[in-house]
Amino acid sequence: MRVQSVSTALLAASAPLASAQLHRYAKKAGLLYFGSATDSPGQRERAGLEAAYPQYDAIFADNDQFGQTTPTNGQKWLFTEPERGVFNFTEGEITSDLAAKQGKLLRCHALVWHSQLAPWVETTEWTPEELREVIVEHITQVAGHWKGQCYAWDVVNEALNEDGTWRESVFYTVLGEEYINLAFKTAAEIDPEAKLYYNDYNLEWPGPKADGAIRIVKMLQEAGIKIDGVGLQAHHVASRAPTLDQQIAVLESYTALGVEAAYTELDIRLDVPSNETSLQWQKGAYINATGACAQVEGCVGITLWDFYDPFSWIPYVFPGEGEAHLWFADFTVHPAYYGVLAALKNATGACDKKVRGLAKLFRS
Ligand code: G3I
Repeated sequence: MRVQSVSTALLAASAPLASAQLHRYAKKAGLLYFGSATDSPGQRERAGLEAAYPQYDAIFADNDQFGQTTPTNGQKWLFTEPERGVFNFTEGEITSDLAAKQGKLLRCHALVWHSQLAPWVETTEWTPEELREVIVEHITQVAGHWKGQCYAWDVVNEALNEDGTWRESVFYTVLGEEYINLAFKTAAEIDPEAKLYYNDYNLEWPGPKADGAIRIVKMLQEAGIKIDGVGLQAHHVASRAPTLDQQIAVLESYTALGVEAAYTELDIRLDVPSNETSLQWQKGAYINATGACAQVEGCVGITLWDFYDPFSWIPYVFPGEGEAHLWFADFTVHPAYYGVLAALKNATGACDKKVRGLAKLFRS
């Protein structure tokens, strides 16, 4: 039974809301923020859903709902340095400007990643020295451009395989694990105020990949290089999402190292079309993710990887799956919306997210 660690009371929560409140209740629960990533209109246009923009934008703009945002694509290497030494910040600025204008906290994403990498980085035969220069120049320009604006940067993204070994990216192939130290060291020099994160998927339960993330944190700490956080992307599947206990345990294994943690890209997909059962599984999985973060000291916030189903990346990557977000195409909310809110209110009710006994509230 997938939702075994979710209390019946929370699953039943569905009272209609007078107003939008996710960020507001997240703050009351002791989190720094509850937010949503968003794409630049230039990226969204491809979905052909321009008519939905006004309603989408109005929901996004409500800071009681979303107090934080992340550019889904615009700060990635492909956009920011499409050719060597040619920098373009326009796509990323659409979201960072929006964050500044609306007073939302900005998480920045992502400096060194094997995917959505400009082709020139992948196709050149680099010497180690040249690739070091390329990494330093990229971080210097990109983190330098947004200096002072980012609460956090995802400095290195997805460096690990599922078994905890290093992913064979161009960076690893040429430089070995040294590229991670170089990226964090450079980011710390360029934007000393930003929290520097290692970010990856499938870090939401204990196991070899989580051990790999712990190894990265320790590697940097032992080298005297600043690392401030572990980002758990949390791209989950409703029918087999991690339990509350697994998430609490893994979060505590990161925060025990003296770094913070955050859910950075939360979405929970299911087979489409959804039905009552799959939507209940999804609700339970959202409750457990939210509840885990809200009660582990050092888990600072939750970011949805967009909130509106039609703007999702999922159908392109997982055909037959989708409806992973909290708003359906017609702008009604998923049952999971009320689950997230109930989990936040529950943590608020317990007054202090440090209260360990809160875990019991989520068990049936
Ligand atoms: O919208 C177009 C559609 O019109 C077109 O038919 C289709 C053809 O492939 O492409 C659609 O756009 C895709 C877009 O996702 C949809 O959201 C782009 O091709 C695709 O490149 C883009 O992918 C992005 C992906 O990173 C690339 O790996 C996603 O937007 C973005 O959400 C996703 O984000 C990543 C994080 O950065 C890191 N963690 C994993 C996460 C999900 O993959």
